[in-house]
Amino acid sequence: MERITVRPNGPLAGTVRIAGAKNSVLKLMAATVLAEGTFVLRNAPRITDVGCMTELLRSMGLAVDRSADVLTIHRPAEITPEAPYELVEAMRASIVVFGPLLAREGWARVALPGGDDFGPRPIDMHLQSLERLGATFETAHGYIEGRAEHLVGTRLLLEFPSVGATENALMAAVLAKGETVIENAAREPEIADLAAFLNRMGANVVGAGSSTITVEGVEELSPVEHEVIPDRIEAATFLAALGVAGGELVLEGARPDHMDMLMQKLGEMGVRTSSHPDGVWGMAPGRLTSADISTLPYPGIATDYKPLFVSMLAVAEGVGIVAENIFAGRFRYVDELVRMGADIRTEDHYAIVRGVPRLSGAPVRAHDIRAGAALVVAGLGAEGETVVADADHIDRGYERFVEKLRAVGADIERG
Ligand code: UD1
Repeated sequence: MERITVRPNGPLAGTVRIAGAKNSVLKLMAATVLAEGTFVLRNAPRITDVGCMTELLRSMGLAVDRSADVLTIHRPAEITPEAPYELVEAMRASIVVFGPLLAREGWARVALPGGDDFGPRPIDMHLQSLERLGATFETAHGYIEGRAEHLVGTRLLLEFPSVGATENALMAAVLAKGETVIENAAREPEIADLAAFLNRMGANVVGAGSSTITVEGVEELSPVEHEVIPDRIEAATFLAALGVAGGELVLEGARPDHMDMLMQKLGEMGVRTSSHPDGVWGMAPGRLTSADISTLPYPGIATDYKPLFVSMLAVAEGVGIVAENIFAGRFRYVDELVRMGADIRTEDHYAIVRGVPRLSGAPVRAHDIRAGAALVVAGLGAEGETVVADADHIDRGYERFVEKLRAVGADIERG
């Protein structure tokens, strides 16, 4: 069991290099099943979720090699289009292989993902979209088997702008016959990155990053080289660390244009940010002021930022109301913050956070990636020692998290 120990150590100062986006690289890796040959992905973060996707691709017969932050993926002519339960259970995002496998192989067998610490996470929209494109599904023994002799372009109107459903539909539509229009599509920068990757492979995708994506199917795609966009959630994590510990940081490689709403909200709370020749600059001059937070699909405040905001609000001046509109019940880590002396009440999908002058360090547990990072952030400002157990959740999405924080002045170690 991994543990991270953190103690307050004054303001942070220096430069942090932001890694490639987890939520982008996983989908780009999935998209490599669409074309035979050798792909190169640069700026691929060294995180355990990438390790999981590597295992999944290898289990299907692809070869994956890493050298520093470059992944080389070779997709042979023949692969086994199956995603086994152990791998889907370890990483739910594995479900994004379904669309590209059906499009290229005509059939696929993927384990049904279970719920997780965010509560139930259905995949009905993924399956409905693929069905509308011509796939049929049968479920037995915990697996879904999909068949699609010919996918045919159509109009898809998503009930909700689901990131995963948009990606699955997009990766299926690129090889479908004719035009597909995805309406109410998710607009996250990671979707635009996936579309840029697909277009480089020879696909014809227009409008990704907006709520209407139009895809004109092509016969065949080719392997390419691509640089993964920076991780806006990692960048947000370091800005939250700044908010709690104070100080001044440059986030090298971060994209301010992917973090507009975040920077606006942080500004309301007293964290100053601006674009910088190397990425994003941030400074927190003193105690933060509370603000209300409402999570929404992009360009709104991401649900992944929310635990970070709760950690900041826990020690800000005033009261902040946090509304979770994406995942019901994503508040489990609140109990851990309460153990550190935070004054937080949750009710349905709301949390009311009354700022206290200081938290007090305690043993706590990380239930998921972002909650784990948010507990470390809280520990940066808490009196005494905070020990975050189950810290391997953090490693799923953060590259060298402890080392990066230590390099800018945090008193933090593993164990
Ligand atoms: C992705 C991100 C995750 C982020 C989330 C929302 C990855 C690997 N993960 O997850 O970090 O928190 O976007 O920004 O990129 N839903 C359905 N039916 C479906 C699909 C989704 O009801 O078929 C619901 C979900 O339960 C949830 C909402 O739609 O309430 C949003 O989920 P979605 O956007 O699909 O999130 P993910 O793609 O799973």
